[in-house]
Amino acid sequence: MADTTGNKDAKNFGIGVPVETEGYFLKGSCHYDWGMQDRLSRIFNPKSGKTVMLAFDHGYFMGPTSGLERMDLSVVPLAPYADVLMCTRGALRTSIPPTSNKPVCLRCSGGISILKELSNEEVAVAIDDVIRLNCSAMAVQVHIGAEFETQTVNNMFKLIDAGMRHGIPTLGVTAVGKDMARDARYLGLATRIIAEMGAQFVKTYYCAEKFEEVTAGCPIPIVIAGGKKIPELDALTMAYNAIDQGASGVDMGRNIFQADNPIAMLKAVRSVVHEGNKPKDALDLYNTLKSES
Ligand code: 5RP
Repeated sequence: MADTTGNKDAKNFGIGVPVETEGYFLKGSCHYDWGMQDRLSRIFNPKSGKTVMLAFDHGYFMGPTSGLERMDLSVVPLAPYADVLMCTRGALRTSIPPTSNKPVCLRCSGGISILKELSNEEVAVAIDDVIRLNCSAMAVQVHIGAEFETQTVNNMFKLIDAGMRHGIPTLGVTAVGKDMARDARYLGLATRIIAEMGAQFVKTYYCAEKFEEVTAGCPIPIVIAGGKKIPELDALTMAYNAIDQGASGVDMGRNIFQADNPIAMLKAVRSVVHEGNKPKDALDLYNTLKSES
């Protein structure tokens, strides 16, 4: 029954104390609604403004990639050290315990394999399932300059529109075809198109020259892919340079799960991204953690 009498008088109105109208920490994201900003704050750490995403969605077109043959054995032990898990719904439901309690960026495009034209993708997940899986973001491949460019941009529109209805961010992934140069000109073009079309954040590759122009010309946060496995120091240096030149994080796969010691590598990458650790110091950390385990 409602208590209509004998209640304490309301008097703590903080008269004279202005209500704080705080801004939002993430590039290009200050005009979104609460749900969208809440999900973005699960992806990007509000203190550092950065993220370390663990990508293990490779199987959606590459099959059982080295290091991901048994995701229950290789990925699950890594999950506690990642900020976000990026994977397919098949990987999530079969191999990742819901008790992992990590934000998920769900791979939502597909329909291709390494045996055929890689740009011929479709939207591969309905928004209902994204919501049912409690995902924090959706990822879609965008193939600028490729045979099915328009189709892949259309896939992105559909996901962004659905995401806007439900407050779920979309990650546009720049898929660089084998005939295209991974240079600032191409990456600047692709990331800018993805941002202007309305994605909330974008994944691209690092390039050694003028990467700061790619990040400056892109009004949304950029996270970098790791690419093929390279020596640990090179991967840590790439992460360091990318952050130093304006990236908001990494979405790394093979350079973590194909390392000799994936947990140590993930911790070393975290130290670079969130704490600004220098590459050589991060390598020392990697070697120390590796020798201790
Ligand atoms: C496919 C993807 C992959 O998730 C991503 O590129 C893989 O990460 P890495 O290159 O670091 O192994 O988006 O295009």
